[in-house]
Amino acid sequence: MAEKGAAAMVSAEEFLAYYLGWAAPARRAYAAGAAVRLPAAAATSGRVVVCGMGGSGAAGDYVETLSRTYGGSAVTVVKGPRVPAWAGPGDLVVAVSFSGNTRETLECAAQALSMGAGLVAVTTGGRLAELARRWGSQLIVVGEAPAPRAGWPQLFYSIAGMLQANGLLSLPVWDVEESLGLLEAERGRIEEEARRLAEWLVEASRVQIVAAEPLYPAAVRLRSELAENSKLASAASMLPEAGHNELEAWAALGGSIDMLVLDPGVEPWSSLLREAVGLVGPRRLYRVEAFGETLLQKLVWLTWLAGVASVKAAVMRGVDPYGLSAVKGFRRVVEAATPWGSGEPRAPSA
Ligand code: PA5
Repeated sequence: MAEKGAAAMVSAEEFLAYYLGWAAPARRAYAAGAAVRLPAAAATSGRVVVCGMGGSGAAGDYVETLSRTYGGSAVTVVKGPRVPAWAGPGDLVVAVSFSGNTRETLECAAQALSMGAGLVAVTTGGRLAELARRWGSQLIVVGEAPAPRAGWPQLFYSIAGMLQANGLLSLPVWDVEESLGLLEAERGRIEEEARRLAEWLVEASRVQIVAAEPLYPAAVRLRSELAENSKLASAASMLPEAGHNELEAWAALGGSIDMLVLDPGVEPWSSLLREAVGLVGPRRLYRVEAFGETLLQKLVWLTWLAGVASVKAAVMRGVDPYGLSAVKGFRRVVEAATPWGSGEPRAPSA
């Protein structure tokens, strides 16, 4: 399916087809990111800040977890309008906005510039592309998708490729290739698994997603996909941390919560998840075992599953997976109520 302009109306069938066809935009984005050569002075500190909101900000969560696991820069994820006060020359700020018009992210980009940090803008266009060109900053223009959240492969793979090619993320090339191969080869498997998960979701209430800690970015992504596409509320947590606090409340609620477990299928995670579920005794349980050999592949698989299952669940619930009204309303509130994103470089305010 051809990639579409973000403003076009998209049917549920087209939206689903786009998610199922992630392989092609993922491969293009990886090649584009890997071709970027940052100026030598852009990232000498070993610190990278990834700024973005919603479907765009999600890319930062993955990069942060992968860098901690595989090695690379110290990554800080910002989902708001403020670049950390410590950022400056030698640090790299990656401003990610699919539309290019998200005020919080525009604000971060302007701050990065005024603080003397290196800036890479990742976007389909909009104001962010305009400003990056005007400022002479590095710009990665990614391919269109029906909606920012459906453009996860464009954003994630272009950033991962760019960081990897510039020595800021130690992802093995073969592993990235395997993850791309998985998107190409496993459409049948993802459709089947997504259908089963969607059937569970439409009967679910008080959904608590629990992931093993390395898979937490996918749990957060699933929560957001269920919110935006399926219009379903859920919460996302990780073990072992939740076992030291939230577990107490889940056990007290016990029979009234539905647990959705993201299991990497390796120890000690599978045992910890199983035992935690045993301590809660949820009303219903759904366990997803991540497909793939490595953390990268498992994260890509679960993210794909989240997208496809959330669209299927929307269709089963009779809601439109593409349209957003409250999120758009909130974007207007931010525009009216804050000075963020004026486009002029300035230091962060308290
Ligand atoms: O997927 C969506 O539509 C949202 O989560 C957006 O990503 C969010 O509102 C931020 O917009 P953008 O990704 O264009 O910066």
